[in-house]
Amino acid sequence: MQDEEDELERRRRQVIESYKVVCICNKIRRGVIEKAIANGATTLDEIRRRTRAATGPCGAKRCGPVIAGMLRR
Ligand code: FES
Repeated sequence: MQDEEDELERRRRQVIESYKVVCICNKIRRGVIEKAIANGATTLDEIRRRTRAATGPCGAKRCGPVIAGMLRR
């Protein structure tokens, strides 16, 4: 019973995390970037092409390091 509740809580947190905006300029959420990585994106350029993240006016100064961290994991 406790295991089921823990699993449910873990999934809830995952969903909440996936809705957090990573690229503020283009309003691209973490889940979109995670999906691109799961589908084979391995570089920041590939993430750019697939999601439009890191293509905004800040030049990826804000989201670039976060995306790079996601790619490393
Ligand atoms: S926050 Fe992603 S390009 Fe500016």
